[in-house]
Amino acid sequence: MSDPGADPISRVLETVANAAPEIRSGLAGRRRKADEQNPSGETQLAADVWADELLEDRLTALDGVGQFASEEREGVVDAGEGYAVAIDPLDGSSNLKSNNSMGTIVGVYDDDLPARGRELVGAAYVLYGPITTMVVARDGAVTEYVLEGADGELADRRAVREDLSLPDEPVVYGFGGRVPDWTDRFADYAGEIERELKLRYGGAMIGDVNQVVTYGGVFGYPELDSRPEGKLRLQFEANPIAYIVESAGGASSDGSGSILDADADELHQRTPVYVGNEGLVDRLESAFE
Ligand code: AHG
Ligand code: MN
Ligand code: MN
Repeated sequence: MSDPGADPISRVLETVANAAPEIRSGLAGRRRKADEQNPSGETQLAADVWADELLEDRLTALDGVGQFASEEREGVVDAGEGYAVAIDPLDGSSNLKSNNSMGTIVGVYDDDLPARGRELVGAAYVLYGPITTMVVARDGAVTEYVLEGADGELADRRAVREDLSLPDEPVVYGFGGRVPDWTDRFADYAGEIERELKLRYGGAMIGDVNQVVTYGGVFGYPELDSRPEGKLRLQFEANPIAYIVESAGGASSDGSGSILDADADELHQRTPVYVGNEGLVDRLESAFE
């Protein structure tokens, strides 16, 4: 298990890393729908509930964790004194049925939840792809690890990419939602991007963002005519991903400025999400002026 002397942020990240192989191996038998909805009104899978309970149990037991919140549960769990941990236990869980990539997202905030992204002191995502990897952002640096089965400190794991940064030349794009639901101003922007880059959209933000981090480009789950705030949750998805992509030299936006500057009023509030190469995000904001 993680070194008890490690700082609380390291302990949180190592706990998620150590849980990842177990979560991955527990997915197969949990593809059925649970008979519950999450606070965002989405039907939960047994896997969502199980991964959430497993991570809540382990993360709230850590010294230095004072609050825990999840996309899958209504309120904030009081865990004593320390940092606030917000997770999306399974991102893209609708991909479970089709056996496509999924992820786990974690953000460590140095403030009570709901908190602004600027209060993040660490963030990471696990990608359950052909290989289980974890991308970690702390102190402005981004590192990608391959997570083998064995328990162990993150630092003992194989770092496969250190000082990870987006390639200068963008190659891929992925935009969520249905084209008829896009606002005119986003549709105009998307029309330009589609003629310049290659489409890579897999339906799980983590898989799509990892394409952008690896090849360069832009990912968006945009404002919709029917839902101007988009779909993705600020605390559990948008803030951690914005923190990671900005730490990797990219940019994030909610359409008007960095996601990390967005006010946090509600725990489950949604926000439009655009992340990727700075030039592409700047063009999005110019198109929205
Ligand atoms: P989650 O499974 O945690 O609810 O996340 C799903 C999200 C995100 O991963 C992805 O970008 C988006 O939903 C896909 O939405 P659509 O199915 O509308 O494309
Ligand atoms: Mn998600
Ligand atoms: Mn989820």
